Amino acid sequence: MVTFGILREPENEKRVALLPGEVQTLIRLGAAVKVESGAGTRAYTPDALYSEAGATIVSRREILDSADIILHIQPPRVEELENLAQGRVLIGMMNPLYDKEVVALLRRRGLTSFSMELVPRTTRAQSMDVLSSMATVAGYRAVLDAAIRFPRFFPMFMTAAGTIKPARILILGAGVAGLQALATARKLGAVVEVFDVRKAVKEEVMSLGGKFVEVEGAREEASAGGYAVEQTEEYLRLQAAKIHEHAVKSDIILCTAQIPGKRAPVLLLKNTVDQMQTGSVIIDIAAATGGNCELTRNGEVIDHHGVTIVGKSDYPSDMPLDASRMYGRNLVNFLKLILSKEGKLDISFSDDIVAGTCLTFQGEVRNDRVRSLHNL
Ligand code: NAI
Repeated sequence: MVTFGILREPENEKRVALLPGEVQTLIRLGAAVKVESGAGTRAYTPDALYSEAGATIVSRREILDSADIILHIQPPRVEELENLAQGRVLIGMMNPLYDKEVVALLRRRGLTSFSMELVPRTTRAQSMDVLSSMATVAGYRAVLDAAIRFPRFFPMFMTAAGTIKPARILILGAGVAGLQALATARKLGAVVEVFDVRKAVKEEVMSLGGKFVEVEGAREEASAGGYAVEQTEEYLRLQAAKIHEHAVKSDIILCTAQIPGKRAPVLLLKNTVDQMQTGSVIIDIAAATGGNCELTRNGEVIDHHGVTIVGKSDYPSDMPLDASRMYGRNLVNFLKLILSKEGKLDISFSDDIVAGTCLTFQGEVRNDRVRSLHNL
């Protein structure tokens, strides 16, 4: 019988890898589950609920020493990874396109790891796609944050005190987070414009009630698997002019544009922010990869001549209960692919999702994207 261990996340992380409902599912599949005491506390889930679900509450040391598979959101501390026995399995988010240190450690220690950010973006893998789940939370939460910080209403109001104009929002990047932000902002009654380099999203933007801002001549590459790629100098110049034109008329700008493995594209320049109305709000959820706004500082809220700029990529941690629920369900759906009928670990690389998600197998980096990014 395979034993899963769920770690308490670092202090800055409120989510937990599995909630009790998902623990029960694993136990029904024939596994045993150990949970570090206090793992769910910041996600409003006390130890007692995990015990009722059939888990054993144990110390962190016991999980690190004895669980066959360690489940997490953020990887264990460096010194803990240094001491894990060879061949142990870790499943969670390793940030492998950016965090070279963790990848190097996993190799050096001969560990097997599955990085949930690497789940292929295919139809069959949708139920395991943590990037989409967390982007959904981030897009929703970022709009609510903007609404609270903005000194005006979102919807148009016809009141006895006169007519209130609706807020104008510009969303940069129409991936999962951007589209969720669009849907949420529309529900609150804002007028929304959206810009993306991928033309394919135009219809989706329009069907959600947004206006698509187009810049002709974007580079798209089929080999990028639906992701955006870096653009030419000429395109970037046209794009900057177009974004400037729309941004200075916006009350709120939500920055979500990203290029996997690269610095986020800088789309909003200081000169543009200088010309925005005081009271405007910029929320940059691409902050952790450099931000779309030139002035963004990751993890900080700054006031630039009356424009509030929020550099924040960890919105999912601020909504820990549903974020953990979605993450845990994605994780369990993935685990079903690597568990046999008898509840034993059964890693089959003939399954494209298992193969694609595997970061290291007994220390060898298996993922091509990671290999080429880190020159391995
Ligand atoms: P992401 O977080 O990597 O990027 C967000 C958005 O930023 C993307 O739409 C991207 O095109 C845009 N962007 C990049 N550079 C830009 C620039 N210079 N200017 C404006 N916009 C820029 O994207 P996410 O949300 O991870 O989605 C990536 C792709 O995966 C999308 O094509 C999405 O439709 C696809 N996808 C497929 C799924 C499936 O089939 N199971 C599930 C979820 C996403």
